Amino acid sequence: MTEPFEQTQTLAPDAAGLAQAAAFLRAGRLVAIPTETVYGLAGDARNPDAVARIFAAKGRPAHNPLIVHLANLDAALALAALPEAGLKLAAQFWPGPLTLVAPLRAGHGLAPAVTAGLETVALRLPAHPVARALLAEFGGPVAAPSANPSGQISPTTAAHVRAGLSGRIAAILDGGACAVGLESAIVGFDGPRAVLLRAGGISREALETALGARLATDAGGKITAPGQLASHYAPRAAVRLNVTASNPGEVWIGFGPDCAGADFSLSQTGDPAEAAARLFAVLHEADALGRPIAVAPVPETGLGAAINDRLRRAAAPRA
Ligand code: TXA
Ligand code: MG
Repeated sequence: MTEPFEQTQTLAPDAAGLAQAAAFLRAGRLVAIPTETVYGLAGDARNPDAVARIFAAKGRPAHNPLIVHLANLDAALALAALPEAGLKLAAQFWPGPLTLVAPLRAGHGLAPAVTAGLETVALRLPAHPVARALLAEFGGPVAAPSANPSGQISPTTAAHVRAGLSGRIAAILDGGACAVGLESAIVGFDGPRAVLLRAGGISREALETALGARLATDAGGKITAPGQLASHYAPRAAVRLNVTASNPGEVWIGFGPDCAGADFSLSQTGDPAEAAARLFAVLHEADALGRPIAVAPVPETGLGAAINDRLRRAAAPRA
């Protein structure tokens, strides 16, 4: 499906901007919206044309389902049945950077392409005040993948969205830079057992503390997040990881106090939360220099696990 060129508007996150964004969604058009994790490419999850436009604008393969964003817990529970462990996580972390995958209820009303034909749906209540205000104003479920062309670096500012999707979407609601900077953690369920399907903006440790149990990492392939491709978040340049001294010509991205001579730093103090918030912006900036990229080691604890997951995919051989 080739869409005609659209003049992509920038909307301010005020009453007029929110009203315009909601009007675009009602008309089946696409609006990039700020969330606390990354910008999302929002469309009406009940409207098959809107959902088809999301896949077309991103160049996203049809087998990769979308996350449905909702204003409140009741709206989420109307679409899917959360097991006990899911209710526990929702109570602790919603609204926030957590997505829960659970069996769809009959009569859910979502366009079939949202779930890519699966019998489960991914649900999230974002915490960003602008996203919450828009969801309340729109009053329905909003499908929103990250607002980047498929496979490329995720967007954490309105400028990143414009660089990737200008001309393909109706508008960008500008809510400033995203505070968390990594996509949501995704948790699914194998019966009563909670399974971490994607490391993300809430650490495994925090999720396990809330559950009072360990998270499984896979359910023997029974449930997966189909979007977890080896190459993803990819800059145009080659990426080398765990680099403690860069080669001539490389752009070096440091972490912590011991990276003298680095071109960028994810966090001078070695703070994983600061590094998460800066990761995609630094990758966008480094890539703009047009040279190979080298990245310092990042410890695997807390949000470091999700940072390393994104870095490994950024460095993976391209399909
Ligand atoms: O933080 C986020 O999650 C951001 C913001 C915009 O909310 N969204 C985001 O969406 O990262 P996206 O489309 O880039 O990633 C969604 C992931 C994919 O890996 C997809 O395969 C998985 O969620 N997913 C969606 N529905 C699923 C389902 N029913 N079962 C398993 N995985 C699912
Ligand atoms: Mg994405």
